[in-house]
Amino acid sequence: MLLLLAFACPSPAPDSGSPPGGGAELTYYHDAKPILDRSCVRCHTEAGTAPSFADPADVVALASAIAGYVGAGTMPPAAPDPSCRDYENSDRYVLADSDRETLLAWAEGGAALGDPADQVDGPGPLASIGPFDVELRGEPYQPEFGADGNDYRCFALPVGNESVVYLTGLEALVDRPEIVHHVVLFEPAAVSESQRVPEGFSCSGFGEAGWTVVGAWASGGTPLWFPEGAGVPLRAGAELILQMHYFNSFDGADQIVDQSGYGLLTADSVEREVSTLPYGPTGFSIPGGSDDYEVSDTSRYRGGDAQILAAFPHMHETGVGFRMSVEGESDQCLVDMNGWYFHNQLLPVFNEPMSLTSGDKVTTTCIYDNPDSQDVTFGEETGNEMCFGFVWLVPAE
Ligand code: HEC
Repeated sequence: MLLLLAFACPSPAPDSGSPPGGGAELTYYHDAKPILDRSCVRCHTEAGTAPSFADPADVVALASAIAGYVGAGTMPPAAPDPSCRDYENSDRYVLADSDRETLLAWAEGGAALGDPADQVDGPGPLASIGPFDVELRGEPYQPEFGADGNDYRCFALPVGNESVVYLTGLEALVDRPEIVHHVVLFEPAAVSESQRVPEGFSCSGFGEAGWTVVGAWASGGTPLWFPEGAGVPLRAGAELILQMHYFNSFDGADQIVDQSGYGLLTADSVEREVSTLPYGPTGFSIPGGSDDYEVSDTSRYRGGDAQILAAFPHMHETGVGFRMSVEGESDQCLVDMNGWYFHNQLLPVFNEPMSLTSGDKVTTTCIYDNPDSQDVTFGEETGNEMCFGFVWLVPAE
């Protein structure tokens, strides 16, 4: 539809001074670059798996592919829909219609490079929320992949706090993203002597009884920070569990040594304490050969009046859609993703927190396509599926 519009647009006569819309006037430097900087270069870098957009000549050579992917809506990859509930930096993750039309018109109009003197830069990748008050890292570790390619390694790491502190921001510091499938930071009820070892210990992807999720990162993941005056309490002398899930997906992955970790921002006191809750169905199975197969769970929230600050949708690679909503006095959309790209697992921090009252129903729905003949079952391994929506909440003001 948009492609057709772009084709139907007559090219303006040279020097006609007509408004933009005829793509022949649009240039890489002036029109395409600011959009690509904002919405694409966090993945399309020299370091990533996506072709780099660093060299303008490469971008021009990819122009028709850019028009194809952007026109089909496959790039940028699916992200939570801000019209469900808007979140910080959503304009970087979801392409505005006007930007999509500009990219298409530029590509269809001949993908001119233009004059570097006209260069308009976009905002580029998000800055780190550091410098951090605390950096937690295990010892350098070379994964020992099982036959199925997975290795879960946990490190019990002391925060170094002599009295209670509050986490006000967290960012995964991923050392070797090519082998890191996910990172989860847990707060354990207790740490045993056998776990308190510098080389870490083998652990389950679900964690253990008594471990609560504090932070989570998967490919494409973003930092988490809380509004002024809110934070996750950590008792004096706290130890956190850094859980690394490594996955072997290419030759030589087993030679890589990783030292990922978490950067923490802390405060000595807060007005409101942040807690986390996991929602979503477990124990399901996705039949082989199914399309748009939905699994869903509705649970009642039981707790004091609260506000949801952020949510983290998590599925594996057969996911194609994700929804989370809260039904109380009214129906409210929390997260809506019409699509899913495993390497783009954002953690939306909402612009307006959502109110939650005891008895409200929280519904989490995941949608999958399973073209294989085998069923895909719920589980922690990469070849299994999960359907989680983790939420971060604070008591209502
Ligand atoms: C979350 C990461 C991410 C973002 C953001 C992203 N891409 Fe991609 N893109 C990828 C990856 C990974 C690939 C390679 C694998 C694939 O084709 O799916 C890719 C492939 C492509 C390709 C195919 C390249 C080829 O060799 O044919 C095009 C074109 C493209 N992206 C355009 C864009 C544009 C334009 C944007 C921004 C509007 C964008 N992408 C944003 C990750 C991303």
